[in-house]
Amino acid sequence: MRALLTKLEQASALDRAGDRLQRSVQATLRPQRVRDLLHGVFIGHPLHPALVQVPVGSWISAAVLDLMPGQRRAATALVGLGTVSALPAAIAGLNDWAALSREQRRVGLVHAAANAVGLTLYAGSLAARLRGRHGTGRALAYLGLGAASAGAYLGGHLAYKQGAQVNQSISELHRIGEGWHPLADMANLPQRKLVTREVDDVSVILYRHGDEVTVMLERCPHQSGPLGEGEVTEIDGHACVVCPWHGSAFRLNGGEVMHGPSGNDQQILPTRVVDGVLEARLP
Ligand code: FES
Repeated sequence: MRALLTKLEQASALDRAGDRLQRSVQATLRPQRVRDLLHGVFIGHPLHPALVQVPVGSWISAAVLDLMPGQRRAATALVGLGTVSALPAAIAGLNDWAALSREQRRVGLVHAAANAVGLTLYAGSLAARLRGRHGTGRALAYLGLGAASAGAYLGGHLAYKQGAQVNQSISELHRIGEGWHPLADMANLPQRKLVTREVDDVSVILYRHGDEVTVMLERCPHQSGPLGEGEVTEIDGHACVVCPWHGSAFRLNGGEVMHGPSGNDQQILPTRVVDGVLEARLP
């Protein structure tokens, strides 16, 4: 199975279809607000994994009820709920997928195809059940569960092996030692300019505003872009750093993500000033 997944990651034959789908997803989900909503910016972590709980939970519950006598109506209701709720989960997933790396998009494409087959089979199951053909409905639902399970397996590979939409920067914290770390003389720190420094080999950015200084991990949570090379811009009255790679924006006075494709906030380090020297420590 591992060899198969490695082949899938390297399957450049999928790129033509993937590139075409990526363009059409980006053209369709154009408004920034819609994209941010679907990335999960408002909750501070990706929305897609949360949304898939509803169809997966409904379909598995329906599969159990289908094994019990007298549960046809309840099973039909759950198949209906799962089928309807799969649509927003799929749209959020496509929105995330369009901002992934090429290797991730190849696996994501097959993940989406397996789930599309599952969804189609469940829609057929629902139609059959509503027409009173419960035997056919049950058979289609079990086939749909098989396809959705294959999709879920690939989704797990995408997240846990390939790191799609997981916070790419948070593991940096494990490389920072305990205690306060000196970073810069306040006297030499410019106002409202990004400055890059290192804490135990971990790159951080410093942003001074008045006597306050924000110290933030430099590696972008989306795909490790260098935030130190990003622009500072104002969004909704807050100074934000914009990632130079795909445009995720993070508040410099808190680290909250303001625009995706990152669905994750960026980590800020607590600071203090001792004898004119700025210091930072682990949160
Ligand atoms: S690496 Fe993609 S937005 Fe920063």
